[in-house]
Amino acid sequence: MASQTILQGRVLSFTGSPFEGEPGDAVQVHEAVAVSGQHIAALGDLDQLRAAYPEADVVHHGDKVIMAGFVDAHVHYPQTAMIASWGKRLIDWLNTYTFPEEMKFANRAYADNIAGRYLDLTTAHGTTTMCSFATIHPESVDAFFSAAQARGQRVVTGKTCMDRNAPEGLRDTAQTAYDQSKALLERWHGVDRLEYAITPRFSPTSTPEQLEAMGRLWAEHPDCLMQTHLSEQTDEIEWVRGLFPDARDYLDTYESFGLLGGRGLYGHAIHLEPRERDQLREHGAALVHCPTSNTFIGSGLFDMAGLMAEGQRIGLATDTGGGSSFSMLRTMAAAYEIGQLRGVPLHAAQLLWLATIGSARSLRMDDKIGNLAPGMEADLIVLDLASTPAISQRSAVADDLWEAVFPTIMMGDDRAIAEVWINGQRR
Ligand code: GUN
Ligand code: ZN
Repeated sequence: MASQTILQGRVLSFTGSPFEGEPGDAVQVHEAVAVSGQHIAALGDLDQLRAAYPEADVVHHGDKVIMAGFVDAHVHYPQTAMIASWGKRLIDWLNTYTFPEEMKFANRAYADNIAGRYLDLTTAHGTTTMCSFATIHPESVDAFFSAAQARGQRVVTGKTCMDRNAPEGLRDTAQTAYDQSKALLERWHGVDRLEYAITPRFSPTSTPEQLEAMGRLWAEHPDCLMQTHLSEQTDEIEWVRGLFPDARDYLDTYESFGLLGGRGLYGHAIHLEPRERDQLREHGAALVHCPTSNTFIGSGLFDMAGLMAEGQRIGLATDTGGGSSFSMLRTMAAAYEIGQLRGVPLHAAQLLWLATIGSARSLRMDDKIGNLAPGMEADLIVLDLASTPAISQRSAVADDLWEAVFPTIMMGDDRAIAEVWINGQRR
């Protein structure tokens, strides 16, 4: 029989969207959750679950919050070792810090080392699934998938394709990008909990021929995700205009090569034209908000409220290492602050939804991860709402759950993550 565990605490589960109606009404709080094997078996009262699962171990977490593990919809695991590099904006930041670091992933041992380090760090921060860019090197994809597979983790990655405007050693061609991506996809996509994402880095580092080849590969494998970057900085948009003089706008450089679709993920998407917003929404594409990155690299303020109201599909992400933190708590705090600068404060339930279901929806995985409900995969975290003296003195005088949770969102880090379960196993 599958191993069974009942976790007692304040078990949070979403029954609807906190962006419709009163945000807190979208959440139900149960006394306990039962995990059986690799899945959530049931939510309910402790006594009721004990009776239903008499063989189960019971773990008491008092008034700690138990919820789905965080889902990070856009990261670059190869940038782990150069996170928080000072003083540059996007294009200079890529050339000065990012490309030299990514060059090191030609070495499989280095890639293995960073993949393991990245997954250890993010597990400690409560992130159980992520969608990562790799580097140009097929070895970097093998390293990440192998490390995640050994940990039983649901992850997405893909070879980052670039055939221009990148240094020697970090460039492929349209043909090798197609061939290597296809070989990796055939090796890894759908193996255990692993999914492949076709990954052109962004239009400035791909020729039209490479974008066409990526579009062709996606058409041949429409069940794969496709991830890239879109309209992050105004200088970048100007650069794209010069490189693709016939394109209607930045999105068109993807769209015209078959790289716009419902399984597409577009990181940043800050400075969008009305036509781009319409096309993204009509295709059901996912926009990924990377708030710590957008302030750290100086990119701009994502229009969360406007895009949500239009019915866009939106995920939340750290964008490690353009983002300045591995923590989805810190990322929610930054999303809140950007909302404030735009005049719209996000509710704690909305922030938690974005970091779980929102990101899982953007990855088209919300039927498997991102929420606690019977049948969902057992990736969950236990949040301590009193993890530091500063947080504890604030949550102690909270009048309700949301007031108790919000200080942890704003001031919490890996110390707030009391326990992490991945694939039904405690880490
Ligand atoms: N645009 C193209 N590549 C990158 C990257 O690695 N990080 C960020 N933030 N933006 C990009
Ligand atoms: Zn990125």
